[in-house]
Amino acid sequence: MQIVKLVSRLLASHYRDQPQLAQSQAYAPSNIALSKYWGKRDTKLNLPITGSLSISLAKHGTQTQLKPIDDANHRIYLNHKLVEPTTPFAHKVVTWLKWVLPAGLVLEVKTYNSVPTAAGLASSASGFAALVQATNRLMGWELPDKKLSILARLGSGSACRSLWHGFVEWYVGECDDGNDSFAEPLPYVWSQLRLGLLQISTENKTVSSRQGMLHTVQTSTLYKKWPDQTTTDLRQIRSAIVAQDFEALGATAERNAMTMHATMMAAWPPLVYWKPESVATMHQVWDLRRQGIPVYLTMDAGPNIKLLFLKQDQVVLQDIFNQLQVVAPFQP
Ligand code: PMV
Repeated sequence: MQIVKLVSRLLASHYRDQPQLAQSQAYAPSNIALSKYWGKRDTKLNLPITGSLSISLAKHGTQTQLKPIDDANHRIYLNHKLVEPTTPFAHKVVTWLKWVLPAGLVLEVKTYNSVPTAAGLASSASGFAALVQATNRLMGWELPDKKLSILARLGSGSACRSLWHGFVEWYVGECDDGNDSFAEPLPYVWSQLRLGLLQISTENKTVSSRQGMLHTVQTSTLYKKWPDQTTTDLRQIRSAIVAQDFEALGATAERNAMTMHATMMAAWPPLVYWKPESVATMHQVWDLRRQGIPVYLTMDAGPNIKLLFLKQDQVVLQDIFNQLQVVAPFQP
């Protein structure tokens, strides 16, 4: 009910009872939080307990095409395959479409991910961000970015940060209705910054971020430390970006990710997304730092590792990690 009210307020004068185009499409990049969103103050509206700050993954993301069809049910394709309506993925997409579309409008949704779905590379973020933008075009809503970000947040919290390239901050907000919790791009370019994706596993995770954060908030004895720590980290990361201080950015982002995982491990039953290979890779990164190579790591709710480094160290790191997929977030 709360969501229906929020959506109708967001759409208000933008609402259209018919699509304005025969089809539409949009692309959104995936994003990795440097200071993480972990814990909700409202589980229905996806309202976070703290703010967060991310960097988008340029060409790694989701392309989505929408077309109205004459059918009783929405038809959803993921990477060229029809998705069973009973899967959690289809359920999330259809639920979101029902909130925003006029009754009776049925769509074919074709979505292509260039990041592995549900393997901790935040494909739900780019997925919902692309879906929101393609729907905005199809329906001719012409919504301002703030409202698009809120609509994306309703699908998946971190999706509200995937509407832009570069650094993006999601404001925690304080209103109960969620109208002031949205993301905005930060006006800083850091052309030498690089991200490296190390895929440890592409298996579907058994505990979604949604379930994982709820379980952590409810049972982890360490969680009460998290909101203050991550708020401080966010501030330090923002300052490191402004000053282009790579060591400060890397160290704060790595500590933030490790602290988030520590809150999960202290939950009961414990929640550990790491695989043995994740831990081995962490030790490799720490060894490299001891040898003087400035490389840091971050991880989301999954076993995969993302490295942070500068362009000057790219060749050396690609030599060491031969599976490394390098992302230059500020190169088109
Ligand atoms: O947006 P969700 O529900 O997929 O949660 C994302 C949670 C993390 O990826 C672990 C952190 C973040 O800020 O992206």
